[in-house]
Amino acid sequence: MRIDILTLFPEMFEGILNSSIIKRAIEKEKVTINIYDFRDYSTNKHKKVDDYSYGGGAGMIISVEPIVNCLRDIPNYSQAYKIITSPHGTPYNQTKANELSQKEHLIIICGHYEGIDYRITNYIDEEISLGDFILTGGEIASLAILDSVVRLLPGVLGNQDSIHDESFSQGLLEYPQYTRPEEFDGYKVPEVLLSGNHELIRKWRRFKSLELTYHKRPDLLTKVNLTKEDMEFLEKIKKGQSL
Ligand SMILES: C[S@@+](CC[C@H](N)C(=O)[O-])C[C@H]1O[C@@H](n2cnc3c(N)ncnc32)[C@H](O)[C@@H]1O
Repeated sequence: MRIDILTLFPEMFEGILNSSIIKRAIEKEKVTINIYDFRDYSTNKHKKVDDYSYGGGAGMIISVEPIVNCLRDIPNYSQAYKIITSPHGTPYNQTKANELSQKEHLIIICGHYEGIDYRITNYIDEEISLGDFILTGGEIASLAILDSVVRLLPGVLGNQDSIHDESFSQGLLEYPQYTRPEEFDGYKVPEVLLSGNHELIRKWRRFKSLELTYHKRPDLLTKVNLTKEDMEFLEKIKKGQSL
């Protein structure tokens, strides 16, 4: 996969590209990531990329021209899937991360200041929002997209099973997990997890996954296909019973 990011702050990407799973994915050639500073594509003699908002108002707007010049300089940009990060966009989630991880070539454009001249929407496929809050710029949003997409690429994570088990992958929150010691400050690891009984552990984990989702994110339960066993578990959970 190839991912190109257009930004005015390339230095914000250095730490992430040189750490942990993203670094390994680059080294293993699972992904190529290019950071473009679109200020380099400004035709203004002072390399200015922003200007006042037509109609008035506070703050500066990024011009569409340097971004489009930069886009056109990217090999095969017209075939790439092009995104801008924007509070107007589709709220980002795991389904969208999965969808983006299937693309061969992704381009992510980061806004800044008061945003980008709206005509940019003629050159892109989708606006994506990280949530209902305002960031200073699109860099953090694009890093979140980049990170969530790259870890889904085949061969990037050591243990591919973790992708299938974790929160949202099956529409529910993940069950609670524990590691050594067996007891800390009087808090014990649930006995069932030490039993070695795989079927009991599977049932306990499914029950806990449903229980956590029911209490913390009940909205998710309306979108998931529940089995007969799940329905029985949920009946107990609603009555405050344990497994
Ligand atoms: C300060 S914001 C501009 C906000 C804009 N004036 C508005 O009210 O909608 C600057 C840039 O940060 C990015 N940004 C801010 N909040 C975001 C969010 N929730 N999701 C994705 N990107 C965001 C966008 O790229 C945006 O162009």
